[in-house]
Formats: sequence, C-alpha cells, structure tokens
Amino acid sequence: MVLSTGTNKIKTAVFISGTGSNLKSLINFSKLKKSPISINLIITNNKLAKGLKYGGIYKIKKKIINFKNNDIAEKKILNELKKKKIELICLAGFMKILSNNFIKSFKGKILNIHPSLLPKYKGLNTHKRAIENKDKYSGCTVHFVNEKLDSGKIILQKRVNIYKKDTPDSLGKRILAQEHKLYAKAILKIFNL
Ligand code: GAR
Repeated sequence: MVLSTGTNKIKTAVFISGTGSNLKSLINFSKLKKSPISINLIITNNKLAKGLKYGGIYKIKKKIINFKNNDIAEKKILNELKKKKIELICLAGFMKILSNNFIKSFKGKILNIHPSLLPKYKGLNTHKRAIENKDKYSGCTVHFVNEKLDSGKIILQKRVNIYKKDTPDSLGKRILAQEHKLYAKAILKIFNL
C-alpha cells in the first residue's frame, strides 16, 4: 500500500448507510495504540442511518450527502475528504456504488467489507443466497475497492459455518460478529502490522 504510517495515524473516513456496527468497531480499533488509523470523518448517503449517532458519541465529524445526483454527491464528498486531509476510506455497509472516476481518484486507498466469501455472492442478499444454495459455510471479506463491484484484491476472509436451522438473519448476525474483528485485522495486515 502506498500509505505510510509515520508518526501520525492515517486519517480515515468511514462511509455508512445503516446501523454502523462496523463503524463502531473501527472507531474502537482506531483508539488502540497499535492502530495505524484514526477515524476523522463519517460520510453517509442516508440521513436516517443509525450509525450517525457514533459521530456524536465519539465527536467525529459527519456529513450527510444527498445522492439524487451522483456526480454532485461525489464532488461534495471529494471536497470533504480534501478538507479533512483524508488518506484512507473504509466502506462499512455503504450501499451506494461509487463511480470509476471517484475510485480512480482514491486508487488503492478504498477498502470494503462484504458479507460473503468473495468471489462468491457479490452484491446483495448474500446470506439468503448461501442458505438457498445449501452451502456448508459462508463468511466475510475485506478487500480493496476497484472499478468492478465487490471484485478488488482480497485482503482477508473469515469463514463462518452455516447450520441447518439458520435463517438469513441468524447467519447474518454470526457473520457480522466476525466482520467486526476482520476489518481491524485487515487494516493491520495492509500496513504490515
Ligand atoms: C455488513 O454486514 C456489511 O458487510 C454489509 O452491510 C452490513 C452493514 O452493517 N455490506 C454490504 O452488504 C456491502 N455490499 P453495519 O451498518 O452494522 O456495519
């Protein structure tokens, strides 16, 4: 990765659309001495995102961006990232697809967490699809973001067993618990820590 930790922590923005439980784990991780990142900005496309509350709790600047027009939305985001000197973006349940131009302008510096063992089950409804296919296990993946959806270089994955009694909801909960550990581990890995 092109970033270097130096003495200061890497200024990071987390993009969310919903509950923000991964955001919360990333904030907790960022506060550890061993963490190479600090969370300096929360971006959302959804003014009702529950995760926005963590901005208030942890005094992190948050920005709600209206995505009615993608171009304008991304320009606004880039402006915010510049203002805050953001060096790394962590997508954490961000349900908008970023344009190629946006991804290029932050190339190699955008991470995403996805609730399946990529390349299996890109996109939505991953747990339902894994159960319907009678898979024995699923899991989660942290990967670099490139111009193709859920297709960038994989950093780390964690496997989670699927049981007969599982519903998408019960499986999703077990996977989410693993996501919370995996994101931090993946960040340590890309910085060789
Ligand atoms: C997580 O399971 C994350 O992997 C998934 O949304 C959930 C967000 O939960 N992301 C995607 O599906 C991206 N395509 P959270 O808001 O509690 O972190």
